[in-house]
Amino acid sequence: MHIRVLGSAAGGGFPQWNCNCRQCSGVRDGSLRAQRRTQSSIAVSDNGVDWVLCNASPDIRAQLESFPALQPARRLRDTAIAGVVLLDSQIDHCTGLLSLREGCPHSVWCTARVHEDLSSGFPLFSMLKHWNGGLQWQPIELDREPFSIAACAHLQFRAIPLISNAPPYSPNRGHPQPGDTLGLFIEDLRNGASVFYAPGLGQVDEEVLSWMQRADCLLLDGTLWHDDEMRVCEVGQSLGSEMGHLPQSGPGGMLDILEGFDRQRKVLIHINNTNPILDEDSAERALLERRGVEVAYDGMSLVL
Ligand code: MLT
Ligand code: MN
Ligand code: ZN
Repeated sequence: MHIRVLGSAAGGGFPQWNCNCRQCSGVRDGSLRAQRRTQSSIAVSDNGVDWVLCNASPDIRAQLESFPALQPARRLRDTAIAGVVLLDSQIDHCTGLLSLREGCPHSVWCTARVHEDLSSGFPLFSMLKHWNGGLQWQPIELDREPFSIAACAHLQFRAIPLISNAPPYSPNRGHPQPGDTLGLFIEDLRNGASVFYAPGLGQVDEEVLSWMQRADCLLLDGTLWHDDEMRVCEVGQSLGSEMGHLPQSGPGGMLDILEGFDRQRKVLIHINNTNPILDEDSAERALLERRGVEVAYDGMSLVL
């Protein structure tokens, strides 16, 4: 299985366009040793030719340009994107569909809950009906049964409902329900290799823990180091726990949970611009290195 990290930042990207916090200004003026990052999305493939997009970032245009495999140029108008899976209905994970309008119709896998948000508060499905067949909804059930996508038939996808938060335009904001946010467990049926992708993960329950243990590679929510990081950096009032993102530090944080995951490749993704792990000289980044936890970057390639 091929995995390409198209974007590794949380909503807003890094640097965020309107932010002059220490890290955003530092990466702009070169005083911080850090890499710029676009908003989170990965692409997966079984053959390196046909790709499934997992989330469609607002930065998709630049992401496609930076990964030539997604534009194989076999005909006048072409793409290697064979399908799109949405893990939630958040702006940073869905807006890219608007930029794919010239290539409609697109098959889009998502839950009924996400489809509802994307037909009401953020009506991508309704809008894109006006572009050549628009988005063809492929419902994801919450029964944990695997589903497949024809162009990547060697990959088996499984949706795991996660506790995170629904976006502000969802009726479920503040009281998320199963189907608002998913993790994806993807297995290559040829060699049994698997990845668990969960860019929005607020709580790790027994079920999530068991899928994490089963996976060979973990691509996990790396939004914040501290729950109150946005407050401390004076960029916002929201706590990670209110936004549905488990912080890395502290008792019960992501690093605590990852203790004992010795077999797995452990990678943090969906990293907010305030997170000190973006600073390659930070103590927090050094701690991750000691714990064997990687920080995803745009263009990171994994072969499982
Ligand atoms: C989130 O991950 O909580 C959202 O994407 C935040 C946002 O709206 O950018
Ligand atoms: Mn997000
Ligand atoms: Zn910033």
